[in-house]
Amino acid sequence: MGLPWDFRTIAGERVTLDLLRDDDLEALFEMQSDPEVCRYMLSEPRTRERVAEVRERDAAATRLEKTGDYVQPAIRDASGALVGTLYFHLTSVDDRTAEIGWALLRREQGKGYAREAAALMIDAAFGEIGLHRVYAELDPRNEASVALCLRLGMRHEGHFVEHMWSKGEWTDTGIYAVLEREWTARTTG
Ligand SMILES: CC(C)(COP(=O)(O)OP(=O)(O)OC[C@H]1O[C@@H](n2cnc3c(N)ncnc32)[C@H](O)[C@@H]1OP(=O)(O)O)[C@@H](O)C(=O)NCCC(=O)NCCS
Repeated sequence: MGLPWDFRTIAGERVTLDLLRDDDLEALFEMQSDPEVCRYMLSEPRTRERVAEVRERDAAATRLEKTGDYVQPAIRDASGALVGTLYFHLTSVDDRTAEIGWALLRREQGKGYAREAAALMIDAAFGEIGLHRVYAELDPRNEASVALCLRLGMRHEGHFVEHMWSKGEWTDTGIYAVLEREWTARTTG
């Protein structure tokens, strides 16, 4: 248990987390080019070429060891189809802290897939990876993402006001977090 941690497939009741594959490119393009999906994300909608470039860059990211390492698992439904992705970024080895992020294809939202996928990743974070704290940063206008944090039992820790120039406007950021002891109390209690 602990770091380094090599990504391994994690199966849940309805979704499975595993590594992205080349045959995911079409679904990834559908998601990452969708202005609605990208609306509150830092990235702009991507072209097909950009999706392929980023996918190639991220393909090597399968191990969490040093501060800054990340993995970007695919979220798959029971048929194996890509329904979205998670982002899991080891922001501090010393503080055993990671950031989590999520995105689903528009047609796969509203089915509980992000909640189940995030819960599987957080279980691994506090179990086999041995972390202390997992947090999410989001645009507070992103109601679906705020609701997901609250459903996961994350606490609202902070709200930065207009601290970031993003997509042509001053933008707020909300911080939500959960500690290992809080997650354990929630999932065993
Ligand atoms: C943020 C995002 C991932 C949330 O996705 P989501 O589908 O709303 O979240 P969940 O997977 O938890 O699904 C919850 C919804 O599924 C519904 N649902 C249906 N069946 C369900 C089931 N079996 N279990 C749980 N929820 C279920 C819930 O009622 C809920 O819908 P509601 O919000 O209308 O009440 C999604 O909106 C998204 O991809 N947004 C674009 C990208 C983005 O902004 N990412 C975040 C950047 S910070």
